[in-house]
This record gives sequence, structure tokens and C-alpha cells, in this order.
Amino acid sequence: MKFFLDTASIKEIKEGIELSMVDGVTTNPTLLSKETGDPIEILKSISKIVKGPVSAEVISTDVEDMVKEGKKLADISENINIKIPVTFNGLKATRILHEKNIKVNMTLIFSPSQALLAAKAGASFVSPFVGRIDDISGYGMDLVEQIMTIYKNYNFQTEIIVASIRNPVHVVEAALTGAHIATMPFNIMHLLVKHPLTDIGIERFLNDWNKIYRGNTDIS
Ligand code: E4P
Repeated sequence: MKFFLDTASIKEIKEGIELSMVDGVTTNPTLLSKETGDPIEILKSISKIVKGPVSAEVISTDVEDMVKEGKKLADISENINIKIPVTFNGLKATRILHEKNIKVNMTLIFSPSQALLAAKAGASFVSPFVGRIDDISGYGMDLVEQIMTIYKNYNFQTEIIVASIRNPVHVVEAALTGAHIATMPFNIMHLLVKHPLTDIGIERFLNDWNKIYRGNTDIS
């Protein structure tokens, strides 16, 4: 399973890369608005430091402008893919960009039928938002399971990016479905590593070691 970092923060991306946890990055207008500076310049910097795919979202809602914006964003770098919301116009724009060999990540996916249509329109990625479904008392991971089954049934090559991840359990559940990618905020990547029993275990080992050797033996 690939891990994408769901952020526009250069600092977080650099640290994630050092930890070998970043196979790609997803941004959205909200994430970019949290950073200082011109969004296009930020996307340029991100696409330079990240080897894998970087998602950049369009703001327009009509077909012509989405395509124009998509082309402009795709010109930033070869690893940029264009995030387009799944609407009638979004599906039309996706087909046009796909035919121009520009990769699209259809976003704001909340139903299996939306994911099916996105794949038929030529999307390279779909982003089901599991956390936002859970937020309204649904079970977002059911959606991921359903999309996985549909894509397997018809051999679609579209990759599923499990998005709107809120906790480490979401990541594990996404991995159990076999979804290709999980995109998560920086704090969730950290939580995947942390375990209180690991910390307690280290403390105990060090205490026991020091009881005997009192720090006088150097085994490093
Ligand atoms: C990523 O592609 C999505 O834009 C992001 O995961 C949405 O997360 P949120 O529901 O926490 O805003």
C-alpha cells in the first residue's frame, strides 16, 4: 500500500520523506490556504521534492475552465495530477484531460456509482472521503470495499486513494480492503508509529541495563 501525505506543508513533506513514509502528496484548496505564499509556487516546490504523484485541485466548476486550469496545473510538473470533483462537468473535464494524457484524481467521492463513473471517464485515481462519511454516522470503509469490488469485477486500472483519514484505524482498515493508497495528515503518520507499550518496553530495558552496568559499559 502506498502512503500519500495529505498536506501542502513543505516542512511536513520533508520530514515525511526522511521517514520514508511519503509515496505521494494530495493537496486541496483548504490545505493550500493554510500555507503562506502563492499556491502555484507551493505546488512547484512540492512537486520538486516529491518523487511520486502530487494532486492539485481545480477551483473552476465549468468544463472549459476546469480543463484550462487542469492544463495549467499539469504544466507545473510531470508528477502533478488534477483533482476534479465528481460532477457532470467534472466527468466531462476528466474525459478531455484523460484524452490529453493528463492524469485525473476524481475527488469528493461519496458513492460507489460516482467511483464507477469516474473510472469510466478515465480517472487515474478516485478519492473516497471515508472520514466525512463517518462524521455523519456512516461507515466510510464500506464505500471503499464496494469500489474495490466494482473495479476488480471490471478490471478498471483506476487507483483508489482512501482520503479524509481521521485515525490510524482508518489506515489499517484501508489496507485490509486492499486499497492502493491511503492519504493522511502528518499527525496520523506519526500515530502509526507510536505505541505506549513500545515506549514502556524501551524504558524497562534501559532501566534493567542500567541496574547492572550503571552506564559504564559501552556496547555502541
Ligand atoms: C484528500 O484528497 C482530501 O482532500 C482530504 O483527505 C480531505 O480531508 P478532510 O475530510 O479531513 O478535509
